[in-house]
This record gives sequence, structure tokens and C-alpha cells, in this order.
Amino acid sequence: LRVGVMISGRGSNMASILAAAEAPDCPYEVVLVASNNPDAAGLAFADARGVAIWAHDHRGMKRAEFDRLIDAALRAANVEMIALAGYMRLLSSEFVEGWQGRILNIHPSLLPKYKGLDTHARAIEAGDAEAGCSVHVVTPELDDGPVVAQVRVPILAGDTPETLAERVLKEEHHLYPAALAKCAADVLKSRSLA
Ligand code: GRF
Repeated sequence: LRVGVMISGRGSNMASILAAAEAPDCPYEVVLVASNNPDAAGLAFADARGVAIWAHDHRGMKRAEFDRLIDAALRAANVEMIALAGYMRLLSSEFVEGWQGRILNIHPSLLPKYKGLDTHARAIEAGDAEAGCSVHVVTPELDDGPVVAQVRVPILAGDTPETLAERVLKEEHHLYPAALAKCAADVLKSRSLA
């Protein structure tokens, strides 16, 4: 299945998705890495590995207008499923509806807890025993769609948002490629049955 990854920055989750795609039995291939930030470090990483990249600065553009541009780039690359990986912009409902059920996101909390930003600080502040990460289907509401995979990570005494983020991120790098592969395999299977 042809996957487009959308990033805004570092791109470590994107890198884990690319690495997993190298396995011979991986059901997806990454055909485009697209960004709203031309300076995103992840773009250079993908480019160096021969993956097509697309970037356009969203600043000064209306959300729907920018989303139409990035949508056109994804469609031109014949993308069939999108993985948001640290894509730090809300998506217009038009964009999301145009990809109905075919956009995944990874979020660093045990959804439905802690949607939005500063998830680790909020989990520590609340005295939670566990944090974690979730892969979910994207709906127009932020961090709100059905969860397809989740991993729990203990919060340890003395954890700061940074130490916790590091421990959760390691799990994200396993969870996201596995969840994406499962969803891609399901799409391919439903096609072969159709
Ligand atoms: C990750 O923590 C992810 O869960 C969140 O944004 C961060 C992106 O990191 N959505 P990276 O760009 O994948 O390194």
C-alpha cells in the first residue's frame, strides 16, 4: 500500500516507519514525506534515503488553502493512506473527510486521556502511574478518532516530562510501524476480497 507520511519536525517516528518498510514482507511503502515546515529535520533524512519529499511553508495561508495544496501533493504521488508523524497542524475537516478513515496519527498519551499538547507533564502532574502512546484513526476532532493500538509505559519516581517522553518515544517507534502495517494489510485484504 502506498503511504504518505506528514511531519513538521524531527521525524523520528517517520524514520521508524521507513526502517520497517525495508522488511520484505512489509505491506506498505512510503512514497512521499510531506511537511508544512521546509526546515523539518525529517525531510533531509527522508531525502537522503531516496524517499520523495514535498514541503511548503503554511505561514500566511489559510488552513483550508494549505490543506488543498498538501492534499494535491499526496494525490499526485498516488498515496492511499496517510500517517501523521509529529504533524503539528490541525487539519481542516475537508481534508480529513477527503481521506475518510485512511489517516492515522500517533499521540503520546493513553487516549482518550490528554489530547493536545504537554501530555507527559499533564500525566505526571495528575500523579498517574502510567503514561503511553496511542495510534488512532484521524477524525476532524483533535486526537479523537478510534484507537487502533496502544502501549502503556510506567511513570517512575523522579520522572520529568523529558525522561518520560524519551521512554514513551522508544515505544512509539515500535508501535507506529506495527499499527500502520496492520492497517495497510487490512486494506489490501479487503481489496482482495472485493
Ligand atoms: C511524538 O512524540 C509523537 O507522538 C507526537 O509528536 C512527536 C513527534 O516526534 N505526535 P518525531 O517528529 O516523530 O520525532
